[in-house]
Amino acid sequence: MRFNLFKKKNTGSEKKEATYLTLRIRETVRETPDTLTVYFEQPEPFLDYKPGQFLTLILEIEGKQERRSYSLCTSPFVDPFPGITVKRLKGGLVSNHINEHFHPGKRVTVMRPIGNFVSDYHSQNKRLYGMVAGGSGITPIMGIIKTVLVNEPQSGIHLLYCSRSEEMIIFKDAIENLQEKYPNRLRVWHQLSQPGPAWGGACGRMDKETIKSFFSDLTQPREFDPKFFVCGPEGMMATAKTALGELGISEQTILSESFYLEKEASEPNDDLPELLSRPVTIVLEGEEHAFEVEAGKTILEAGLEEGLDMPYSCQSGLCTACRGKLLSGEVSMSEDAGLSEKEIAEGFILCCSTKPANSEVKVNIE
Ligand SMILES: Cc1cc2nc3c(=O)[nH]c(=O)nc-3n(C[C@H](O)[C@H](O)[C@H](O)COP(=O)(O)OP(=O)(O)OC[C@H]3O[C@@H](n4cnc5c(N)ncnc54)[C@H](O)[C@@H]3O)c2cc1C
Ligand code: FES
Repeated sequence: MRFNLFKKKNTGSEKKEATYLTLRIRETVRETPDTLTVYFEQPEPFLDYKPGQFLTLILEIEGKQERRSYSLCTSPFVDPFPGITVKRLKGGLVSNHINEHFHPGKRVTVMRPIGNFVSDYHSQNKRLYGMVAGGSGITPIMGIIKTVLVNEPQSGIHLLYCSRSEEMIIFKDAIENLQEKYPNRLRVWHQLSQPGPAWGGACGRMDKETIKSFFSDLTQPREFDPKFFVCGPEGMMATAKTALGELGISEQTILSESFYLEKEASEPNDDLPELLSRPVTIVLEGEEHAFEVEAGKTILEAGLEEGLDMPYSCQSGLCTACRGKLLSGEVSMSEDAGLSEKEIAEGFILCCSTKPANSEVKVNIE
C-alpha cells in the first residue's frame, strides 16, 4: 500500500505535502569501490515517490549547509525501503562524505521526492522501453526497470549501459538476477570504456553507431509503443539523443535526466533588460513575502538572503527544487534545462536561474 505525505496547510481545507522529512538510514550497501547505496527506513506515513524521482539531501558539512540531489534507485512498487546510490566524484564534497560517513541509524534531512524523469506504468501498457545509462546514470533507471518488469507484464526493456570497467558496473548482480527472472523481457548490453583483459563484451566509448544498432529493432513498425530514458554524462546523453533522432525516434518519446551541467562562459546579451534592483513578491506556502532583488542577483539568492525558507538544491537549473509559477510580471531565465516544455508553457520558472525583468514579478512556490 502507498501513502501520501500530507500536512495541514493554514488556509482552508487545502493540503500540502511536507517539504522536508527526516529519514533514518536502515542499511548501506557497497555496490562498487566508489559507489554506495543507502537504504532508508520508511517514514510514517510511507515515502510517496514515483520511479525515477530524486531526493535532495540537506547535510551539515564542516559547519556549512550543503544540498545535493540523488535519484531513488528503488521502485515504490517493488522495494520495501527507498534507496539512493551515490558515486564518489573526484574532489566532490558531498559524494565523498556520503561514501565515508553514512551508516545505519544516522538521520538525514531530505526534501520530498520530485523530478520529471517519470512516466505512467500500468498493466495495460504494451511498450518497448529503450534505456541508455552511463555510470551513476543507472540509478533512476534501475527503479524504472524494476517497476516496468512488475507493473507491465506486456512490456519489454532494452538497456544499454556504459561503465568504466567490470568492477565499476553498478547493480551488476541485481541486473543479472532480473535478466534471469525475466529472460524474454529484459535485454542488457554492457559497454566498458576501460575493460580489464578478461572482459569479453563490448568496449570503447558509447558512440552513435553502437546506440543505433542496439535500438534499431525498436524502430521497426510493430504494435509496441517505444519510450526512451537516457541518463548519464552530458556527452553521452547528447550522443544518444542524436542517434535516436537519426533512427527517427521523436523527441517526445525520449526522457532524459541530467546530473550535472557544464557551465559555458556566458556571452554578453544585448537583449537583457537594463540591470536594476527590482521588487519581487514570493508566495510561499500561501504567505506573501515582498523583497528587493538586487541587480544581477537571482530571485532565489535574494530570497535566501531575506531569510526565506525557499526550496532549492543544485542552484544550476537542473533539479527543479526551486520551481515556482510566475503569477505576474516579466523575468529573464538563464537556465531551464530541468523544466519540460509543458511546464515552461504553463509559466513555471526556476528561481535559482531567474532574474526579475520588471517590477511586477510575483511568483507562487507550491
Ligand atoms: C536530478 C539529479 C539527480 C542526481 N542523482 C544522482 C545519483 O543518483 N547518484 C549520484 O552519484 N549523483 C547524482 N547526482 C549528482 C549529485 O547531486 C552531485 O552533483 C554529485 O554527487 C557531486 O556532488 P559533490 O558534492 O560530491 O561534488 P561538488 O563538490 O559539488 O563538485 C566537485 C567538482 O565536480 C564538479 N561536478 C559536480 N557534480 C558533477 C557531476 N555530476 N559530474 C561531473 N562533475 C561534477 C563541480 O563543478 C566541481 O568542480 C544527481 C544530480 C541531479 C541534479
Ligand atoms: S535549485 Fe535546482 S533548478 Fe533551481
